[in-house]
Amino acid sequence: MAAPYIVLNFKMAPERRREVLFLCKEIAKLSRASRKVRMVACPPFPYLSFAEGKIGAATLGAQTLACGGQTAQTGEVSALMLKEFGVRFVIVGHSERRALGEDDVMIAAKVRRALERNLRPIICVGERERTSEGDYLVHIADQVQSAIQGLPPEFFSRVLFAYEPIWAIGKSAADALAPEEIHQTLLFIRKIIADLFSREIASTIPVLYGGSVKAENARELLTKGHADGLLVGSASIDKEELGQLLKELKTNR
Ligand code: PGA
Repeated sequence: MAAPYIVLNFKMAPERRREVLFLCKEIAKLSRASRKVRMVACPPFPYLSFAEGKIGAATLGAQTLACGGQTAQTGEVSALMLKEFGVRFVIVGHSERRALGEDDVMIAAKVRRALERNLRPIICVGERERTSEGDYLVHIADQVQSAIQGLPPEFFSRVLFAYEPIWAIGKSAADALAPEEIHQTLLFIRKIIADLFSREIASTIPVLYGGSVKAENARELLTKGHADGLLVGSASIDKEELGQLLKELKTNR
């Protein structure tokens, strides 16, 4: 099994520069001790240049990017600017961005822009609620399709997906989706990609899981959930929890 991606989504934290520095130092230390995982640290925009060069073997990621290249976009940050600061990955379509008004059209444009600039988009998809009728699958399928349809096949070696059921975000380990159901959903996402492009392309795209990933459940989510990695929110800015999470992955794999 390939080394899993552990993507650290700091969201809008920490607020203080001093705390960001502590966190970067911790990530640097952990990244050197955890060679079996591919860590990607995604601090808020103002701290990207600050984090560059301070996160050890971890790679730098951003939490979003501007849709296109035109400069008249007040408050936005372009793909090229991100690259200038050593960013390699970018989260696209996180549910918290979708809640602020990002729609499927914008997300598709962001994915394309990231790829055109050689960034690796981590495309977030996931349902608001999981009903027994299964309509959440239609919702996930729509999100996957609209984000990548029409992309040139040569882009696919750089695409990642993160399946994040919205109802499971920001809670405790017990609230994460059960590993067996994660496995089923990740298979479903691969099937959508295979139907759009090919089975070969679908099998090479890493599909991560996110939503209440903690030290307690991280290993199971990877092994039983068959996720290619984890998108970690609140545990990513808690250095004890993060240290324990990485330790669990190391000692048990
Ligand atoms: P959480 O956040 O780990 O705090 O649930 C995950 C995310 O929103 O990416």
